Amino acid sequence: MGEHKVILVGAGDMAGNHIRAWNEVGQKVVAVVDVDQERASRLQETWSVPKRYSDYQEAIDQEEDADIVDVCVPLRWHAPVTIYAADHKKHVLCEKPIARSLEEVDSMQLAISRNNVKFAVAHQRNLSPGVDLLRRWVQEGKFGRPLMLYSDGLAQVRPKRFMHDKENNNGPIVDTCIHQFLMWETILQAKPVRVYAQGGIIARDHPALAQFSHLAVDTATITVTFETGDVGVMNISWGLPDKTRLKGNVERIIGPKGGVDSGTAQEFNPAYTSDETKFRLFLGDQEESVSVGVANAFALQAKAFVDYVEGTQSKPATDLRVGRHLLEISLAALSSIESGEPVRL
Ligand SMILES: NC(=O)c1ccc[n+]([C@@H]2O[C@H](COP(=O)([O-])OP(=O)(O)OC[C@H]3O[C@@H](n4cnc5c(N)ncnc54)[C@H](O)[C@@H]3O)[C@@H](O)[C@H]2O)c1
Repeated sequence: MGEHKVILVGAGDMAGNHIRAWNEVGQKVVAVVDVDQERASRLQETWSVPKRYSDYQEAIDQEEDADIVDVCVPLRWHAPVTIYAADHKKHVLCEKPIARSLEEVDSMQLAISRNNVKFAVAHQRNLSPGVDLLRRWVQEGKFGRPLMLYSDGLAQVRPKRFMHDKENNNGPIVDTCIHQFLMWETILQAKPVRVYAQGGIIARDHPALAQFSHLAVDTATITVTFETGDVGVMNISWGLPDKTRLKGNVERIIGPKGGVDSGTAQEFNPAYTSDETKFRLFLGDQEESVSVGVANAFALQAKAFVDYVEGTQSKPATDLRVGRHLLEISLAALSSIESGEPVRL
């Protein structure tokens, strides 16, 4: 694997994970960009990044030797930064969700195709050992079929308030449920065919959200039916009170021969932890605790992207088509909430 030069756009929480991963797989972050220069300079100092910018266009114009742009800014900037980078012949690794609308995704696709550059969406969770173990178990028929998959994500109103803005982030159904949609498809190796969702805005009266004229749906139950007859059910809320002790994030699968309970979401989001995680596996009348293993999913993601750029892998871990498809499921869930009707995919 050669050394590539990376421009990191955004210096927030995810950028911190990404820059560490780029370093771990021997890549060079040559510039960090953030409108918040304090954040940019913190990251610059910590990782000895040569250059710092406040404007992504200037960074891309100036850093001619860089061949990768890593997009770690909020959702509204995913399409503009990707298109600008592609038009300057840079390959793009873009944080999830891919974009706000299918139209934005299609503009990104055009820019990527006309410039013949490579693109991937950052869905590092799907590279976690927990997902891989569940996929293997399900595919070898451990639990029988059909399966019910349950996911539960509960949180207080997000401290990053813009995440509740309908125009800019569109709430948890777009922002976070896509992780589960991708995980379910990976585990089941099956396509979703129908989405039904009910939900609304339970945090409407939270004073910090008064600044937004259009709030995103913050709470929902989403049912996704797969071609195989398996069903995924997601309970999601970002509407709970500040400092709530209510915790979600139990992943559970049940089937005719047994099931599995993850206990926490850590197995699926092993950012930088050495904690050993375990699944509780239930088969017949037996119960067993199974070690999931530890892997750095961000480093796996960075390596997979470089392999794709270099052509040693023909496909990225999550390509544009998959990113678009996940957004379609989220938009179908929102449309189902509005209409009260199930939506066929
Ligand atoms: N893959 C995952 O598991 C995961 C987890 C959390 C967040 N994310 C995604 O990562 C992205 C970033 O999220 P985050 O949690 O790091 O957010 P963050 O708010 O911590 O960081 C974003 C940074 O972008 C900067 N920024 C905003 N607009 C900019 C612009 N136009 N140009 C340059 N900088 C700009 C902000 O000042 C901020 O420092 C989002 O798309 C989010 O959905 C992914």
